[in-house]
Amino acid sequence: MPVKIEHAAETPAAAGAKKLFVKSYGCQMNVYDGLRMAELLAPHGYALAAEPETADLIVLNTCHIREKADEKVFSDIGRLRKNNAGAIIAVGGCTGQALGAKIMQREPAVSVVFGPQTYHHLPELLGKVTSGQQKRAFDVSSFDTNPTLEKFDNLPTPGVYGPSAFLTIQEGCDKFCTYCVVPYTRGREISRSAQSIIAEAHKLVGQGAREVTLLGQNVNAYEHEGISLAKLLEMLGEIEGLERLRFTTSHPANTTPDLIAAFANNPKLMPYFHLPVQAGSNKILRAMNRAHTVESYLETIAAVRKARPDIAISGDFIVGFPGETEEDFEQTLALAHAVQYVGAYSFAYSARPGTPAAQMADTVDEVTKKERLAALNVVLDDSLATFAQSFVGQTVPVLVERPVGNPGRYGNQMRGRSPHNLPVNFTYPDTLDAATLPGQVVHVAVTHSGSKALVGTLASR
Ligand code: 5AD
Ligand code: SF4
Repeated sequence: MPVKIEHAAETPAAAGAKKLFVKSYGCQMNVYDGLRMAELLAPHGYALAAEPETADLIVLNTCHIREKADEKVFSDIGRLRKNNAGAIIAVGGCTGQALGAKIMQREPAVSVVFGPQTYHHLPELLGKVTSGQQKRAFDVSSFDTNPTLEKFDNLPTPGVYGPSAFLTIQEGCDKFCTYCVVPYTRGREISRSAQSIIAEAHKLVGQGAREVTLLGQNVNAYEHEGISLAKLLEMLGEIEGLERLRFTTSHPANTTPDLIAAFANNPKLMPYFHLPVQAGSNKILRAMNRAHTVESYLETIAAVRKARPDIAISGDFIVGFPGETEEDFEQTLALAHAVQYVGAYSFAYSARPGTPAAQMADTVDEVTKKERLAALNVVLDDSLATFAQSFVGQTVPVLVERPVGNPGRYGNQMRGRSPHNLPVNFTYPDTLDAATLPGQVVHVAVTHSGSKALVGTLASR
């Protein structure tokens, strides 16, 4: 799920004379990492700046998944060099991992480069530069020595920035889909211990989190000393004060019967399942090395729906993969029609250096990719709109997150999420102390479905 987060507005300002700006590109895991980076630097005197132009240190926490994401990093570096020539620029994340040496060579303005598995070394790397010990510092150590777990052991206690928190439980990928850089940037699949995850969840809840979304590139491949994701969800479900659980992103091949049963049996697990399919043609799925077929994917969806009939299914799609014909694409459209996704993500195929698919002839031109993307989005938008519309006239439980805009300008409005992960904006009476609402699950009478959110009024608390 692509997001763009600039952490300045999210994390509390630490006391300190130096100003920090962290920008996270890409997925939720980068958001989690970006917050941890700010927390790692706070004891070293870095307070958050409102914008990059006034920062002493700018950390670009990058994404390498598609070519455009890389291009954005390079253009941001160029702009920062012009607008804030005095700042130290550090590049971390997946582009740092994959293109670190190139960045060091091409961008003299960048002083520090690190990767997703070495960001706990950031204060040390930075110290080398600020002390004058080194002009530049670079650490993208390989994945051979299990650095992921070392990283988690060296992160500070996570802060909480709202009622809904992310918690990384698994990293990396062994699936090697032929188009994807993740196995090369995040490394191989690795799971944290249930004990460390539960301890982190307790801390999050202690600081006010009411919902935790478990993160992993292959979150349902989670396995640690015999504990599966379903078991972990059951253990987390016992934490008092933790009201909602979610997890993302799953792989069809790891969607086991116990996980499917969790949707029926775990009352805290929300009825929303993000299960990327990527394409609706078995020929393309084979070429992508997806380890599932259209039929096995649909069987999994049917089993999940049987366990939890109201479940919202979301997914990811790639259009224009090498060799994708009009007929293959029609099958993708048919699959999207059949599943009736709620909030799926679609991307035009982008050849990534070093992946097997980059060796395949890119047979689909950019115009066709755009056309296919637009046609798929019509189907995806339509099923989302139909689903959202089905809540009009109903009362839904909403976990309140924050006020919407300026209360004077927009009236008394709050924003939260429904169990199916739909954003909900609702009004509340003047008599109510608004400060008490975030973190509560309230009931909202939905009056209509807007373009970005369900809209309603507070029915009961
Ligand atoms: N080109 C386009 N989309 C891609 N994704 C991963 N690699 C590529 C690529 N090379 C998409 C997949 C994945 C999501 C995170 O990004 O749909 O599920
Ligand atoms: Fe990439 Fe495939 Fe792994 Fe997902 S399952 S991270 S798409 S290689």
